[in-house]
Amino acid sequence: ETTLRAAATQAGLFFGVAANPNRLSGIVNQEFGQLTPENAMKPDTLATSSGGLQNTGGADTLVNYAAQNNMLVKGHTMVWHSQAGALQGSNQNTLNNFIGNALLRWGNRVQYWDVVNEAFEDNNTGRRRTQWPHTISRDANGDGDVLDAGDTDVIRDSFRRAKQVVQQNNLTTKLCINDYDVEGLTVQGGARNNKAQALYETVRAYTQSSEKLIDCVGFQAHFNDNPNSIISNDLQANIQRFADLGVEVHISELDIDDDLSNNDIGQGQAENYRKVVRACLNVSMCKGITVWGIADSESWRASERGLLFTGGNGNYQKKAAYYAVLEELNRG
Ligand code: G3I
Repeated sequence: ETTLRAAATQAGLFFGVAANPNRLSGIVNQEFGQLTPENAMKPDTLATSSGGLQNTGGADTLVNYAAQNNMLVKGHTMVWHSQAGALQGSNQNTLNNFIGNALLRWGNRVQYWDVVNEAFEDNNTGRRRTQWPHTISRDANGDGDVLDAGDTDVIRDSFRRAKQVVQQNNLTTKLCINDYDVEGLTVQGGARNNKAQALYETVRAYTQSSEKLIDCVGFQAHFNDNPNSIISNDLQANIQRFADLGVEVHISELDIDDDLSNNDIGQGQAENYRKVVRACLNVSMCKGITVWGIADSESWRASERGLLFTGGNGNYQKKAAYYAVLEELNRG
């Protein structure tokens, strides 16, 4: 195959891109089979203080474009401590309103939704307990977790609401949890990745109980260009253990810095992209890879040149990393 989209489809997964409504040039539907709104479906754009919807124009543009071009869409995102806009500080009822409104507006035209984003602490202490919206969780018996009868948990309760709306309206939308620095089973140096472990335990709790609340897990995968970094064999092992819980795994926001100091004209970056694609291809429940933007110049971290194209504004050139990804996808 000659495009990322076709090669991925052939291999049994989607290859997608994050985009804003002003980035919908021809390359998007040629090269990519899935779209994640980079910013247009965040609460700071979409939500009113009562959990209603506003400013849906950008999201509509993206969803309509995807429908016209047979692309999948992942909504991003509902419950997040950052970019919360009018939802900041709200209670679970308001979050539940927003969850229902967002799901129902686009229905099955959005095949995946990131219901909860970045819910775990960076310092490996588990959930972001002291930070809204996690402060609306309650540990009734004081045992340090929110997993017992009588406890409330913003993660569980948000997924419960989302699942209820999906079921009551006969939707097929799949409900995802998404995070960063959870990609490797271990961290650099070989110690266990405790942030990944915290995510794993949460997903396990809410998929192995009688309610199956979570359908998919996104590893953001904002990587740096260091062959010894988190991009290693244990990416595949970590994907596998989540897959073994019965959830889809997605590489959801992929970009890999190009280490400019080594003058290797993007070869190291290309090899790292290849490794990520291979890890996903090797696990059948790894159902999609989404790069976080089209071209370096349009990336949230443009100076690190982490994407597959140079150029900009609809005029793009393929990088070594692009060809490595295409070749790896074509190997299946
Ligand atoms: O649109 C306004 C513009 O009108 C204004 O003049 C300008 C001034 O700062 O800001 C513009 O909005 C910016 C927006 O991107 C669109 O460019 C925001 O300030 C800026 O905060 C926002 O950054 C986004 C960031 O999330 C925060 O929401 C990035 O584009 C986006 O790539 C990034 O994506 C996140 C994922 O959602 C979650 N995982 C990490 C990932 C990278 O940070």
